[in-house]
Amino acid sequence: MSQKTWGGRFSGGTDSRVEAFTESISFDRRLYRHDIIGSQAHAKMLAEVGLLTAGEAEQIVTALDEIGTQIEAGEMEFTISLEDIHTHIEKALIAKLGDTGRKLHTGRSRNDQVVTDLKLWTRDAIDELDSLLLDLQRAFVESAERESGVVIPGYTHLQRAQPVLAAHYFLAYTEKFQRDRDRLRDCRARLNVLPLGAAALAGTSLPIDRESVRAKLGFDSVARNSLDVSSDRDFALEFVFTLSLIATHLSGWAEEWVIWSTTEFNFLDLPDAFCTGSSIMPHKKNPDVLELTRGKSGRVIGALQQLFVLVKGLPLAYNRDLQEDKTAIFDAFDTVAGCVAVAVPLVRQTKLRREVIASRLDAGFLDATTLMESLISRGVPMRSAHEVVGNLVRECEQRKCRLADLPDAMFPAPEVKASLGVANALRAFKSYGSTAPAEVERQLREWKLRLA
Ligand code: ARG
Repeated sequence: MSQKTWGGRFSGGTDSRVEAFTESISFDRRLYRHDIIGSQAHAKMLAEVGLLTAGEAEQIVTALDEIGTQIEAGEMEFTISLEDIHTHIEKALIAKLGDTGRKLHTGRSRNDQVVTDLKLWTRDAIDELDSLLLDLQRAFVESAERESGVVIPGYTHLQRAQPVLAAHYFLAYTEKFQRDRDRLRDCRARLNVLPLGAAALAGTSLPIDRESVRAKLGFDSVARNSLDVSSDRDFALEFVFTLSLIATHLSGWAEEWVIWSTTEFNFLDLPDAFCTGSSIMPHKKNPDVLELTRGKSGRVIGALQQLFVLVKGLPLAYNRDLQEDKTAIFDAFDTVAGCVAVAVPLVRQTKLRREVIASRLDAGFLDATTLMESLISRGVPMRSAHEVVGNLVRECEQRKCRLADLPDAMFPAPEVKASLGVANALRAFKSYGSTAPAEVERQLREWKLRLA
């Protein structure tokens, strides 16, 4: 008899090149635990509806546990002639139980099975990533606390703009990663619909109970349309999109810190343990972790592209192309999880070079906008105030001095000079969400409570 689960219809064997070309066991073996959980729920349901006896289901559940332990211990021999993880596990079950094992696949197809496994896997991956992102947020909040009171230049166009509190800066990243966590939660909610029971594409004439399987596997509802099920990879796209956005956030942050760690900026003291040296230049301390974080975003965004191209031309229902979804999802997840795992200690251990930053705060007219606003507060129309301060800045550039160094007489109202200097400018902020010290303090307190 053929090794293949589908061998009945075939007279000859499969060309070995085809086996090597069509296999997925080399990468889908990482679904084994989810495949087993799905099969156990399926077997129990089959017994509930009388398609298996209670004893048979029990035997199957126990044997599947044993197979899981074997795989975990590295004792399962994987072979491309058994295509994928589903076939390996089913064959191992049949080897243990004979005819009882041959009943497991009743009312089920690999088409609904594989998407069930992948959803179960993605659900776990989301939970794992969520807790990593929580750690990262905590690291940023810790930095906000540690550096609270420190003022740094805020940039637009990478040109000095206005002063901001370092805590405000760190909390900005906390916000971005919160949105990423919210997106993961949304993605999880939408994917949590049970595919199993759609069978090959049309459902089954057997009296399966999908609601029972749903409850056993912790899905929120049952997929309504069997034809939709096996072609649906929306959840994979949403997940990898979310991963791409996380990678993009990490990449922007990494780029910023690469710049901040240059001799030219010198804002950061990166921990030695997170930098590497040069094989030829003895003095070098390179921010390779940050650079790779920036670089790896390309892989993740590439995986999203791969998935879009994969599904864009597929007719209903299952097509073998879909097997190619897994490499993209796995790689995107591994890459992002790896980036976050190393970002957490890097953020925790990196300190701002406070003296260097403070010694240069007078440069770049960080107080100019506040000066303009203090004129506005005294009734000067905004556009006029803008022009007045612009002229003063031009004057400073000629005299090579700060706004505060200009003679009182040059200001339309000499009292406005009280808003000059970075410390005064910072204190002047008031609006909700601004870098106003009281506002940042309040938000820091809220984040600490929220992430506790
Ligand atoms: N290894 C396959 C995949 O990942 C499982 C489904 C195979 N289904 C089929 N009809 N050949 O998509």
